[in-house]
Amino acid sequence: MNQSETKFPENFLWGGATAANQMEGGYLEGGKGLNIADVLPGGKERLKVLKEPGFNFEINEKKYYPNHEGIDFYHRYKEDIALFAEMGFKVYRMSIAWSRIFPNGTELEPNEEGLAFYDRVFDELHKYGIEPVVTISHYEMPLNLVKEYGGWRSREVITFFERYVNAIFNRYKDKVKYWMTFNEINSALHFPIMSMGFSIEKGEDEYQPIFQAFHHQFVASSLAVKACHEMIPGAKIGSMIISAPVYSYDCNPKNVLYAMEEERIFNYFCGDVQVRGEYPSFAERFFKKHNISLDIRDGDLKLIKEHRVDYIGLSYYMSLTEKKDKTGLDLTPGNLLKGVKNPFLKASDWGWEIDPTGLRITLNKLYDRYQVPLFVVENGLGAYDKVEEDGSINDDYRIDYLRSHIEAMREAIGDGVDLMGYTSWGCIDLVSASTGEFSKRYGFIYVDKHDDGSGTMKRMKKKSFYWYKGVIESNGEVLLKSIRR
Ligand code: BG6
Repeated sequence: MNQSETKFPENFLWGGATAANQMEGGYLEGGKGLNIADVLPGGKERLKVLKEPGFNFEINEKKYYPNHEGIDFYHRYKEDIALFAEMGFKVYRMSIAWSRIFPNGTELEPNEEGLAFYDRVFDELHKYGIEPVVTISHYEMPLNLVKEYGGWRSREVITFFERYVNAIFNRYKDKVKYWMTFNEINSALHFPIMSMGFSIEKGEDEYQPIFQAFHHQFVASSLAVKACHEMIPGAKIGSMIISAPVYSYDCNPKNVLYAMEEERIFNYFCGDVQVRGEYPSFAERFFKKHNISLDIRDGDLKLIKEHRVDYIGLSYYMSLTEKKDKTGLDLTPGNLLKGVKNPFLKASDWGWEIDPTGLRITLNKLYDRYQVPLFVVENGLGAYDKVEEDGSINDDYRIDYLRSHIEAMREAIGDGVDLMGYTSWGCIDLVSASTGEFSKRYGFIYVDKHDDGSGTMKRMKKKSFYWYKGVIESNGEVLLKSIRR
């Protein structure tokens, strides 16, 4: 096929993505309970908390917690949604904060004030014809479940999750058609705190608790798929995985094999269970090698087999390059997902390697393997932005990044991949998940809020705002022209 002939499908779902804990603020309003994100400090210390064992999940009054205030979407959602509508969003990916609906996670009845808040948000979106795409659990669970149950270590959490899922499906069945279960479920292999609600204990072998918690999440995810299909006919529910193709550093077969093994366990393990409905054949040897023994109860495997996701939501930020023996090689310092430096790639200000071709590769690999629709629900460039004296923000670097990734998606469609849509990450500036910074900005919309907590919260349109509007208006045809205001 001639590559330039490829077009995005007519019904392609263009939009932007955020998560409740990184933007809502109002951390104690509307009856909300504390959640994991509320106890994660801002700045460099957050990375330490995520990577090192033994975190205590307590708030320290001397520290700054940026997620408490976020960007105040809780009060400013109307203004923000109007801006999304101005860009022409067809969809808006957001998450529901579990701790707004069940403040402690264990209540028998949902919190009406929390439910009413999301009713208002969905109604506002629909006012502009924007469809919500909702992540049920995005790096956020009630802190009480973390402290009393050890998060997803405990099987009991499945019951609490099921109650939460039933409550939101029941309430929003007429308002939400696109759902996803766990954000970046596979991220737990590198930092279980945010997605699984526990810290590895000092001296504890990490694999056993992480894979047991995965099993609990797989069961919970299948229960959610089952409930969604029963309660909301016509709705689609997906998984959400970080997708990062793993390249071998060179053509030494030992390194190729190593890269393949890393890729299987990181990129495919969760997808295999959630999409194919069974543990992959490579799991047995992996479990044996790492002394992992899973508590799988009667009926679990049948449930997982029978209730599989309809599509794969994925985040894509970088590829990984791996070598078995890394002695003497530069590692990628900012890269949470490990890997060695790839000499062919440039990196962002935070050291994340920029690789649009990797997106085309990963979309092809996922589609070859699973043959279900794919949805890129996160992708973007975290960068420092400068507000000029005249108020303009000339983020050409972001436009370049997004353009090259959108081109890569278009080529993947030309390759035969069934791609549903694209919601770029952090369409409005928000708190970074890994570093708790405001200065790591992804948005088309600038928010005047800074790492020390100062700022007016004023919203300002960046150059990329106008550019993305043009992309959506032309259904991805106008990628090269940058549109000035
Ligand atoms: C994904 C998460 O890992 O990447 C988001 O789903 C996150 O929550 C995004 O914000 C970008 O990462 P960061 O650390 O730059 O905010």
